Amino acid sequence: MIEFEGISKRYSDGTLAVDDVSFTVEEQSIVVLLGSSGSGKSTLLGMVNRMIEPTRGRVLIDAHPVTDTDPVQLRRSIGYVLQSSGLLPHRSVIDNVATVPRLKGETRAAARAKALHFMEVVGLEASLGNRFPAQLSGGQQQRVGVARALAGESDILLMDEPFGAVDPIVRLDLQREVRRLRRDLAKTIIFVTHDIDEAFALADRIVVLRPGGRIAQIGTPTQLMSEPADEFVSQFIGAGSSRRLRIEGSLVVDATGRILGALEK
Ligand SMILES: Nc1ncnc2c1ncn2[C@@H]1O[C@H](COP(=O)(O)OP(=O)(O)O)[C@@H](O)[C@H]1O
Ligand SMILES: [Mg+2]
Repeated sequence: MIEFEGISKRYSDGTLAVDDVSFTVEEQSIVVLLGSSGSGKSTLLGMVNRMIEPTRGRVLIDAHPVTDTDPVQLRRSIGYVLQSSGLLPHRSVIDNVATVPRLKGETRAAARAKALHFMEVVGLEASLGNRFPAQLSGGQQQRVGVARALAGESDILLMDEPFGAVDPIVRLDLQREVRRLRRDLAKTIIFVTHDIDEAFALADRIVVLRPGGRIAQIGTPTQLMSEPADEFVSQFIGAGSSRRLRIEGSLVVDATGRILGALEK
């Protein structure tokens, strides 16, 4: 479980990026941080692996403050996937995926075996292992980024707008993959996006951020739909969604009539 307790962040230039944010990410769940650009999503995410230190408040993992763990150790142990896949361009795909096992002291052979395993988990053929990142499609590069994050074998995955640059079809495929990882590998995932459809497709719970880095609402997709906390949330969700969700009886239905979920009591 990951807990954000009264977190604020003011950058040295005076920008208040996050303002008194508290929420909890249950074990083996996907929490999506949803908000427009500049609402503090990446700042919050970076606090989990100490890329960013809060000005106030603290983050706990399984009841231990992250500040108890050395930042380098923490970064190695927690999978982190970014939009720009962050792959090392002059290393082969397999060596990219093997990075963290190697840093942890595994032999080259063991690390490569592990890398091949996680490439398979994310649906990459072993034959791609000897290519360089630039020789892969955008979607394949993102899969490599996910495989690399998995190779750290942490229970936690942090994903910061990882699929923003891939085309919509591939993106749907990658979203399915993320749900599968949560289910089959029992991962706890914090996923950042500004895309409402993506948030609804993935989240167990959504943390909606408003400009200024404050929480507008926390809830399941159906809760946000059926009981938006205020005008901001209802505008944000309504205006940004291409699904044109509606409520029929106790069900949430999209424009094609597909049932997305039931309203909770
Ligand atoms: N290193 C930094 N120094 C100063 N301001 C920053 C820094 N990083 C982010 N910010 C500012 O903090 C706010 C939140 O940024 P960020 O967390 O990146 O938002 P998001 O990921 O939601 O787009 C923005 O106003 C941004 O300009
Ligand atoms: Mg960001």
